[in-house]
Amino acid sequence: MKEKIKLLVIFGGISSEHEVSCESAASIIKRLDREKYDIYKIGITKGGRWILTDAETEKIADGTWENRISNRMAAVSPDRTLHGIRTLNGEEIHIDCVFPVLHGRFGEDGTVQGLLELGGIPYVGPGVLSSSCCMDKAVTKDLISREGFLQPRYYVTDRYEFSSDPKGILADIEKKIGEYPFFVKPANGGSSVGISKVKNQIGLFEGITAAAAEDHKIIIEEAISGRELEVSVLGNRDPKASAVGEILPANEFYDYEAKYINKRSRTRIATDLGPQKEEEIRSEAVSVYKTMNCRGMARVDFFLDEKNQIIFNEINTIPGFTNISMYPKLWEAGGLSYEKLIDRLIELAMEE
Ligand SMILES: Nc1ncnc2c1ncn2[C@@H]1O[C@H](COP(=O)(O)OP(=O)(O)O)[C@@H](O)[C@H]1O
Ligand SMILES: [Mg+2]
Repeated sequence: MKEKIKLLVIFGGISSEHEVSCESAASIIKRLDREKYDIYKIGITKGGRWILTDAETEKIADGTWENRISNRMAAVSPDRTLHGIRTLNGEEIHIDCVFPVLHGRFGEDGTVQGLLELGGIPYVGPGVLSSSCCMDKAVTKDLISREGFLQPRYYVTDRYEFSSDPKGILADIEKKIGEYPFFVKPANGGSSVGISKVKNQIGLFEGITAAAAEDHKIIIEEAISGRELEVSVLGNRDPKASAVGEILPANEFYDYEAKYINKRSRTRIATDLGPQKEEEIRSEAVSVYKTMNCRGMARVDFFLDEKNQIIFNEINTIPGFTNISMYPKLWEAGGLSYEKLIDRLIELAMEE
């Protein structure tokens, strides 16, 4: 019999997407083939403590994993000769591959990837540079615009610059972007936390204040009206694009409530785009993926505006993996099951 792969799933984390990460990880762990993998689980609490846990998937999903008596403090070691985990009482566990199921900062942004690079352990998803560039929406936009992809007009400021001259900056934003409404976002965020759609200068001021609570760097964008589309991309050197998905948010935009709470939000496979437009969108997703130097996986999000133009929105290097998440769902639509997809992701990680 072939030896099992010692796979470590890391979940939780200190970002505002802690809960979503736990749910994504629970879905993945539940579907991993026990014949193929020896599964280890490290949860990172909201406070940042690393815990090796044997909690069941339901407990990971609902957050009660943290209270388990058998939990042990442990962390991935940067020591290459160890190639794995060291627990507080000195036990060393060899790990073959890591699946970081961490959304947002300090997980999706290259930091954990950097630790895994030091430790010499293969991991699922893009590398350090790519992860950090994709996490920062301002950096992504600058890189993407160099390649000529269409995207909303945008303006980048930071907490300090803004507070030194709020009036001047507000006027400058209006001059550069044009007509309201605008979207205001923290540069490093996710799950729509800290994002608002604003309709006038007072709203803009409040939106910047709210975004500044999440990150010191803030982006203001022209609002695009049209459809919201997403494409899953998978692969290392020859990445492939999935079917095109569409978000039908229950609210005015896909805010946190619409994403995770409001049951009236829907997602579907966009089958009415016509073969040519669909191909264009898929091929643009792969181009963005390559521009951002991704490997393993990423989900690329677009708008299709009222003139039928493809407008880039953002790229996620560790997309959601919950039961209803788009990344796996779009592959399932093309015949690649959730189980096969996670096997493939682990294979791609170990190939590198
Ligand atoms: N420029 C824009 N025009 C129209 N809608 C937008 C724009 N930017 C963001 N949105 C809406 O806000 C949501 C969240 O923004 P997004 O940039 O995707 O951040 P997050 O990383 O939090 O998902 C999008 O899914 C979309 O509904
Ligand atoms: Mg998004």
